[in-house]
Amino acid sequence: MGIHPAAAGGEAGERGSLSASDGRFPEGFLWGTASAAHQVEGDDRNCDWWEFEQRPGRIANGDTSEVACDHYHRYREDFALLREMNQNAHRLSIEWSRIEPDEGVFDSRQIRHYRDVLGELREQAILPMVTLHHFTSPLWFVRKGGWTAADSPRAFLAYVRHVADELGDLVGMWCTINEPALYAANGWVVGEFPPGHHGDITGMYRVTSNLYRAHELAYVALKKRWPDTPVGLSHHKFYFMPASNRRADRWAAAMTQLALDRWPVSPGRLRKIVEATSDFVGIAHYWGQMVAFDPLRPKEQFVRRFNVPGVPVTEMGWSADPGWMTRVLSELRPLRKPVYITENGYATHDDAIRQRYLTDVLSNVLLAIDDGVDVRGYFHWTNTDNFEWARGYTQQLGLIAVDRKTLERTVKPSGRLYARIAATNSLA
Ligand code: BGC
Repeated sequence: MGIHPAAAGGEAGERGSLSASDGRFPEGFLWGTASAAHQVEGDDRNCDWWEFEQRPGRIANGDTSEVACDHYHRYREDFALLREMNQNAHRLSIEWSRIEPDEGVFDSRQIRHYRDVLGELREQAILPMVTLHHFTSPLWFVRKGGWTAADSPRAFLAYVRHVADELGDLVGMWCTINEPALYAANGWVVGEFPPGHHGDITGMYRVTSNLYRAHELAYVALKKRWPDTPVGLSHHKFYFMPASNRRADRWAAAMTQLALDRWPVSPGRLRKIVEATSDFVGIAHYWGQMVAFDPLRPKEQFVRRFNVPGVPVTEMGWSADPGWMTRVLSELRPLRKPVYITENGYATHDDAIRQRYLTDVLSNVLLAIDDGVDVRGYFHWTNTDNFEWARGYTQQLGLIAVDRKTLERTVKPSGRLYARIAATNSLA
């Protein structure tokens, strides 16, 4: 029996409990897809990612986000397809660098644009979950030190307040920040995201910490302005398992989980953030790996990570077993908060694989609901195939294909499958 305690408040949170064991999802379950402004809109030139893309060798095939999906102009067509796919929610991000092109200067034309975008979703009866920061930052902000600067959370807060005033009446749920720990690791340690630093642990520490502080400030401001609109953030959840039952491997797996999930924010601080400043927990889960202790790898913290033998590997090179979704969700049960799967998907050019993964992963979401986890919605990553950051257009995670020459959209069989699931609210 699925247990659904206190509602998160607002439209998204009001509903009762329902058994999941009949293959049905709880009443009012949100069926959506997720996207990010920079990956779909096109012509987003005033942010750090645009600048990063212009540096040779940064993006696969020298691709850029110049066209992306031209969603900035084609959002009506895109949302009409979502409606046809029986979606009742959509997660999208607002581009900070468009709204605030210079510090303290707000662009009313861009506000009007996003009012039209959100208004169109409302017209189509699709609940907007709005992300306020999804990996891109304005150039003026970056020039001042970006997320490493001590006053970065305050700078973000000014933008959040403006968006809350100007767009808040149209927003169904807020997701303040997308995957803080992953963003900081990719930009400051792995070097795949701007600013492209390698091994800058101190930078990563500062950035993660400032992002969580920015979330806390944003939470308070948003609740003050729109008390009934649920606010949360999206946490990236890997699934790491020890390579053996040996204590050293178990230690290595636990440390890796800590490092890549949430480090350097201590579990205590993260818990506080979730308890005090989150109406819901958003999780993005895609993949997992095995972890072994390896004394010969001091530079990698004595840890070796590798794909799990026998488990399918996506075209992004990640092993992905749909069963891990249940484990990841079950870990969240003690938090006693509504959970939204803010992202999940599978990179492949073979849509039959995506269809299988989708059905399997959703049956695992049902298992977690049966197990008492209060899952209230699923946002598939993503609707249209789009600009996959450093991998350019080489990856396809969408339910809708986009012809790169004509930009024509075609719903894939996986999209039609998802539409049927959403229509019946069930896998039966
Ligand atoms: C990010 C998306 C990205 C997806 C697939 C997520 O962590 O939020 O922007 O496209 O992973 O790589």
